[in-house]
Amino acid sequence: MCKRALEGKRVLLTGGSSGIGWYLATQLINQGAYVVVTSRRDERLRQLRLAVGNPLRRLIALPGDVADPAHRELLIKTAHEQLGGIDLVINNAGIGAVGAFEKATPERLRRIFEVDFFAVTELTRLALPLLHKGVSPAVCIVSSVLAHRGVPRKSEYCAAKFALRGWSESLRLELKPSGIDMITVSPSTTKSEFFESLLDTEPTERSRSFGMMTAEAVAGSILGAIRKGKRELILSPGGKALVWLSRLAPTLTDNLLLKYAA
Ligand SMILES: NC(=O)c1ccc[n+]([C@@H]2O[C@H](COP(=O)([O-])OP(=O)(O)OC[C@H]3O[C@@H](n4cnc5c(N)ncnc54)[C@H](OP(=O)(O)O)[C@@H]3O)[C@@H](O)[C@H]2O)c1
Repeated sequence: MCKRALEGKRVLLTGGSSGIGWYLATQLINQGAYVVVTSRRDERLRQLRLAVGNPLRRLIALPGDVADPAHRELLIKTAHEQLGGIDLVINNAGIGAVGAFEKATPERLRRIFEVDFFAVTELTRLALPLLHKGVSPAVCIVSSVLAHRGVPRKSEYCAAKFALRGWSESLRLELKPSGIDMITVSPSTTKSEFFESLLDTEPTERSRSFGMMTAEAVAGSILGAIRKGKRELILSPGGKALVWLSRLAPTLTDNLLLKYAA
């Protein structure tokens, strides 16, 4: 059942220069939405504008860092002034790291929290006054299966995504009376530039995963969840299996992760 159409929706999207965000931007434009998109790489955003053809100037690209409070303010101001408001925020930008916590720096932990947690929560806080006046308003969080199950050598990323899950669960209930949906989608490993952009990670570090989804398919599923107003969606059978196994047999899951993911 479709709860909201994307045609005509005014969307604020983070992390549109590659991977899942690139396909979210192109699919949103194809489905008739108006999009303010951001990420740090200006040249990539230019390519995105060319790729979508920018019909009726429905894509506004603003390069910048979501961890910068001034940039977050600018995103909201631009959406307000140029689109007249916001109906949907998709918090997609994210970074990760691989490697032992003990050997990593405190800066790595803080930077991951700045981008994956504080930028998301504070951008959402700023968007709420506009969302309250929006049409079928919603906030979407691009989370991760690792928001449900911690794995070795990705402790900072798991911690930030777990924190985001707790925050979004609380906010979902706070926002319910005002009709703003909170939609959380958790992809499993996805083919993107994510593992090429790892923070302070030794080139020899490898992320082991089993099966990969394409960024295009993940973006399609995220937009499907938004249309249907889903509460929480874990993508991929492997992701669902990991989450359920972890709930039912946590020690067995620990042993399997130590054997296959460490
Ligand atoms: N790939 C996976 O296996 C996987 C699995 C589960 C969940 N996810 C989640 O999916 C989301 C998208 O990741 P992806 O796989 O599509 O990876 P990706 O190709 O690396 O895309 C990440 C996007 O975030 C942007 N970004 C990163 N830091 C930013 C910052 N400080 N300010 C603004 N933009 C920033 C990047 O653009 P710039 O570099 O140009 O800033 C890029 O557009 C992330 O939240 C990630 O945690 C990914």
